Amino acid sequence: METEIRNSYGMPVLISKQEIEKKVSELAELINQDYRGREISIIGTLKGCFVFTADLLRNLRVPVKVDFIEVSSYGHEKTSSGVVRINKDIQGSLENEHVLLIEDIVDTGHTLNYLLDYLRLRRPASLKVISLLLKEKKQRLKKPIDYFGFAIEDQFVVGYGMDFRGRFRELDHIALLEEENQDSLFF
Ligand code: PRP
Repeated sequence: METEIRNSYGMPVLISKQEIEKKVSELAELINQDYRGREISIIGTLKGCFVFTADLLRNLRVPVKVDFIEVSSYGHEKTSSGVVRINKDIQGSLENEHVLLIEDIVDTGHTLNYLLDYLRLRRPASLKVISLLLKEKKQRLKKPIDYFGFAIEDQFVVGYGMDFRGRFRELDHIALLEEENQDSLFF
């Protein structure tokens, strides 16, 4: 996706604040319709999901419970051979609950596949997935993503919760991290 607009770090803006707001509102409306009359148990995948989760929640008109899980992947160049470790687990059983797992981005799908297996063990009444971003590649997902905001190419993105070496999560838009600029971004 070509863009002329750059942020204060000189990164190209891939998805603007306004585009995100519109998309989050549209996604929330789908969820409001699909879950009408039910309570949702939201599980956010830390850390990247926290901004998207907060904005999505404020657009929902169905009752929700919210919890978070944090995982790390090791020993993989973002391939399916990696090992996922749970750093922070959820509380409560999720049994017979309508679980909606929130991701900021699905890349290889490795994290998502692991989490789906993990959450299924808790016997929820239903289990769906929403991701703001989905990389346009052929992931071998164990289950199709139920809701996603934007399909993007295989580029490194930051902002709106997503980081590079822990930074840039606070940006209100999603920007492209160009490889040639990475070293000039730190003070
Ligand atoms: C990101 C994102 C997903 C995962 C997706 O997390 O939040 O959990 O990567 O990648 P995959 O589809 O290739 O498994 P990240 O590892 O950047 O951690 P963070 O959210 O704590 O920044």
